[in-house]
Amino acid sequence: FNVPAPVNEPVKGYAPNSPERTELLKTLKEFKQQERDIPMHIGGQEVRTGNTQRIFPPHDHQHTLGYFHEGTADHVQQAIDAALAARPQWAELPWEQRAAIFLKAAELLAGPYRARLNAATMLGQSKNAFQAEIDAACELIDFFRFNVHFMQELYHQQPQSQPGMWNRLEHRPLEGFVFALTPFNFTSIAGNLPTCVALMGNVVVWKPANTQIYSAQVLMELFKEAGLPDGVINLIYVDGPVAGDVIFQHRDFAGIHFTGSTGVFQNIWQTIGQNIKRYKSYPRIVGETGGKDFIVAHPSAHAKAVATAITRGAFEYQGQKCSAASRIYLPSNLADEILGYVKQDLASFKMGDVEDFSNFINAVISETSFDKLAKYIDGAKADSNAEIVAGGGYDKSKGYFIEPTVIVTKDPKYTTMCDELFGPVVTVYIYDEAEFEQTLELVDSTSPYALTGAIFSQDRYAIELASKKLVQAAGNFYINDKPTGAVVGQQPFGGARASGTNDKAGSLLNLLRWVSPRAIKETF
Ligand code: SER
Repeated sequence: FNVPAPVNEPVKGYAPNSPERTELLKTLKEFKQQERDIPMHIGGQEVRTGNTQRIFPPHDHQHTLGYFHEGTADHVQQAIDAALAARPQWAELPWEQRAAIFLKAAELLAGPYRARLNAATMLGQSKNAFQAEIDAACELIDFFRFNVHFMQELYHQQPQSQPGMWNRLEHRPLEGFVFALTPFNFTSIAGNLPTCVALMGNVVVWKPANTQIYSAQVLMELFKEAGLPDGVINLIYVDGPVAGDVIFQHRDFAGIHFTGSTGVFQNIWQTIGQNIKRYKSYPRIVGETGGKDFIVAHPSAHAKAVATAITRGAFEYQGQKCSAASRIYLPSNLADEILGYVKQDLASFKMGDVEDFSNFINAVISETSFDKLAKYIDGAKADSNAEIVAGGGYDKSKGYFIEPTVIVTKDPKYTTMCDELFGPVVTVYIYDEAEFEQTLELVDSTSPYALTGAIFSQDRYAIELASKKLVQAAGNFYINDKPTGAVVGQQPFGGARASGTNDKAGSLLNLLRWVSPRAIKETF
């Protein structure tokens, strides 16, 4: 192994008057002062259609950050053509050359691009400075560095040979193009899904969520500056079903790398199934979808630790992490104490825009999301099965602000214990402390999802019991820690059941999906 040993990028603190804060504030100001005109990127060309849509910060919807140019089915076709035209040369390029591009991207992001990508993420996706730093800077840098390392590991996994015979595996790129469909909630995921596919020698058509286009533009600039050749990743802004119609009917469609909602993923899978006879190869289908992530506390749990896990795990980035805790099971002996700490903690959380670094809570991503959450909150206010013990307020006059809200219910199947809300609303069910084992069964059976979950306990037998009973309930399982904040190279991330194909982002397992190995036997 000779690629640089990957290390996790240290998180910067953004303390008052620190150089990183000064630079970030300056960049935020510059970004806010200029309205950006944001083109698509097809075959290395900037494409402007004149059909523009406004981009604005979710915490300040009257402010205009810029306009993006929306494309049509023709642009999707052009993006596919550009990808396929770039493919022969890219797929033939020695892997070290591809690796070097992404190692350079990591260095650029650790240096000159850090403030720009963080600022774009903060403004476009309403993420506070710390949340932007661990996402757009650190996690994406880690993805670039670790994926290069995993790629080398993969290429070194070779079969046995014998005297007179040499067996080897050639990890060919897929034959065709890959579609990357990326979410708003992590700039690092938006950056990783197309690039880890490209790293393995593939060409990509990339469609980000409309609400992430502002930072996607900075990502594209970064890839170009790192030396990514034209046409390898083509960035389009086209309505999902319009793009899907062209892509999923194309003979050279070779796979999809997806993070988004379960419903969309299931529709895509169905469409691919219906078109299966058109394709040259069976497409790779890799997706991370919904979640209804849990925290369950045993009667022996450390109350303060559980409370911190709830406030951080449920409310960082307004609960819009796919890993966010959203259903909590507390034992009757500790519930009051834990909820007391939660309320205390929440009382210290400030809510507002992203430029005031003391705001822990910013806006939710869109009006649609705001309206949906407000409806659930109103539902809880009106329902005798539910009691709102913290928060419950909302206001969209300036931005889409929802107070961090804690609902306590006596019904373990209450609607907010089951539905995926994707916002700063958490629901607590208090169980009889003598019924821990039955509660584990409830945790397992209440949701179709299985992304993340956490058990808090000081009792080793209880931890073992929970690990066994919840063996399929979470792809990322945390013992005495919050269920968010997986670190690349440390906790490979992904879930099964309705949460996805569990091809762990930032792992060798994921990269394996983007190659089509040829086994070669040569005799002498
Ligand atoms: N990796 C993120 C987390 O663990 C979610 O995508 O919070």
